[in-house]
Amino acid sequence: MNDKRLEHINISAFQEDLLRWYEENKRDLPWRENNDAYRVWVSEIMLQQTKVDTVIPYFNRFMEKYPTVYELAEADQQDVLKQWEGLGYYSRARNLQTAVREVVEAYDGKIPEDPKQLGDLKGVGPYTKGAILSIAYNQPIPAVDGNVMRVFSRVLHIEEDIAQSSTKKLFEHYVEEMISKEDPSSFNQAIMDLGATICTPKQPMCMFCPVMEHCQAYVEGIQDRLPVKKKAKKQQKKKYIALLIQNKEGKYVIEKRPDSGLLAGLWQFPMIPADDIVKKDWQPWLQENYGLDVEINESCTSIKHVFSHIIWNVDVRKASTNEETVQDSRLEFVSLEELKKYPFPVPHQKMIPFLEE
Ligand code: ADE
Repeated sequence: MNDKRLEHINISAFQEDLLRWYEENKRDLPWRENNDAYRVWVSEIMLQQTKVDTVIPYFNRFMEKYPTVYELAEADQQDVLKQWEGLGYYSRARNLQTAVREVVEAYDGKIPEDPKQLGDLKGVGPYTKGAILSIAYNQPIPAVDGNVMRVFSRVLHIEEDIAQSSTKKLFEHYVEEMISKEDPSSFNQAIMDLGATICTPKQPMCMFCPVMEHCQAYVEGIQDRLPVKKKAKKQQKKKYIALLIQNKEGKYVIEKRPDSGLLAGLWQFPMIPADDIVKKDWQPWLQENYGLDVEINESCTSIKHVFSHIIWNVDVRKASTNEETVQDSRLEFVSLEELKKYPFPVPHQKMIPFLEE
């Protein structure tokens, strides 16, 4: 390891300045009410790919419904997904529940303090493992995500591309060197708060930074050029026709997505892949794929949704059918009232206002 980068820094002074600032300025967040490992775990999973302000109401509702590992372990997966509705990256919720069930069965409900046991749980990668072990159990373990890499890329002037997964190890090494051994819980949370409030991606507010004088990028005046992050590949675009298919009883057809892949286990209105199926084949395609005889009407809205790797462009159309039952096991006919119990991904939630009694 090239530890030249540590030559310029007084680690104990850095820790002291950071921790003093955190003590006085830490954000008042619901998962900080105590250091319960379950609360830390749920919050860290929710906070992956999602902003703090968005997470807060979800976290509070989730804790009310599933206050301990036992309630979550016993819950119906569809109810858990319903609680997660709108947060995205739904495999996080499914993996969390799988892992919590293992904690109940294998560890008597106690979240392991052993790094190997904790890291072997489903969905617990190095970041989540480090966050739980440091925040809840006060172990000096790094928890490195994009925000932490941004802060340390500036403090230590590291130019490695943070978009490359191999770069994370380098940052873990430096955090291991720099983390406070007395208070690793506050240290990691302080870095998170610093990244969120001061050491921001654009126009960092160095004048307010408690570790400004320890920051190599600030000294060199290059904080705006760090971190180095090479552009990700462009998302693939996909066109769909979504159908709001109503029958004579006023019920709508909904479809459960497969148990793996994008939006696994969530519900949606049936969609025709419009890149592959031309308009004149829409009806035969529906007959062949769903066994449904459908009349397709006008377009009522169009919805664009950007996922991490895919962009959907969805033309939403009303449709009708004479069917009263469905043969296909993925499908169900539901009333508007029944529909509320099913978890839908955001682009399909946006179609719900177009349904009629
Ligand atoms: N971002 C990720 N984890 C966090 C935490 N525990 N507190 C605040 N922001 C975070």
